[in-house]
Amino acid sequence: MAKKIEAYSGQKQSGILLNANESSENLTPDIIQEIMHAVENTAFNRYPDTEQKELRQAYAKAMGLQTEQVLAGNGSDQMLGLLIGMFLGKGKSLYTYDPDFSMYDYYASSYEADVEKYTLPYDGSLNIESFIQHGREKKVSLVMFSNPNNPTGNCLSIEQIRKITAGFAPTPVVIDEAYFEFSDETSALTLLADYDNLYVTRTLSKAYGLAGVRLGFLISSAANMAQIIPSSVPYALNRISMKIGAIVLSHADQIQEKIAETKKRRNEMYAKVKEFRSIQFYPSQANFLHGCCDHKEELLAMFAKENIAIRNYQGKNTFRITIGNAEENEKVWQVLKQYEEEFA
Ligand SMILES: Cc1ncc(COP(=O)(O)O)c(C=O)c1O
Repeated sequence: MAKKIEAYSGQKQSGILLNANESSENLTPDIIQEIMHAVENTAFNRYPDTEQKELRQAYAKAMGLQTEQVLAGNGSDQMLGLLIGMFLGKGKSLYTYDPDFSMYDYYASSYEADVEKYTLPYDGSLNIESFIQHGREKKVSLVMFSNPNNPTGNCLSIEQIRKITAGFAPTPVVIDEAYFEFSDETSALTLLADYDNLYVTRTLSKAYGLAGVRLGFLISSAANMAQIIPSSVPYALNRISMKIGAIVLSHADQIQEKIAETKKRRNEMYAKVKEFRSIQFYPSQANFLHGCCDHKEELLAMFAKENIAIRNYQGKNTFRITIGNAEENEKVWQVLKQYEEEFA
């Protein structure tokens, strides 16, 4: 029987969707217009550029990288799967956190690899030395975690990432930066010149508002990528999504504005809810807040009544709420306030 993936099962498509950390706003009409024009001029009858030149160049330029360092995939998900397939197999193990992004487990089990988890406290803070020591003792073959972490929202500093990367060398270390644009830290991309064992994944699904288009990136040293790129799936991306990605990347100013707004709304929401007595919320450097409470079923029912989807962690007393637009956040605030009034 096919494996069920908790994060994606029963994914809702209507109501107020604050369960998948998507952008709450669609692309602006001017960008959509530019995309429509590009679609009209597409050679649908021809295979796409298998080297993904335009998109890789656009991402490399936006991030200050060389094009040779970048590979694009059908979401960063596909790139994470590619790395797990490359470095793991039967008898090998992946080292990650509990909690972290559920797809790591999915891909590891697809390749019959084991998963070794280092448990994080609810606020996501990490004892770096203990994390490295435990992973080394377990002789793991691949280290992979999200930074900022999904779901805690905690983000390690560049010095902490450096210690981890150096501490595991030559074992490959993958930093999943799906939410990095919402943080105030320095990206692991800046360490690529120093460490051969470092890989970074990024996505256009979150800060760039392109979850529906499925574009993500794998970035490493040019030497590592020269090994990986020839073995990646030919024609993995279609002409339309690559073109959309390139267009959106050319509107950096608009994207930066949207990111700044989301960070502001997140900080405002956290400032209000951190004083709650009935729910504990944690500081976040991503586009969501992580919380825990004693009467989670009641809280979930209150959200469901307002047709607001949030992410529930089955079997735990935790949940995660994506930061939405001002109107959505106001509705979330009303639900949380009602819960606080009842249970504090
Ligand atoms: C931590 C993390 N990494 C990667 C992804 C996958 O993103 P995508 O495949 O849309 O690029 C997600 C999606 O929610 C995520 O939370």
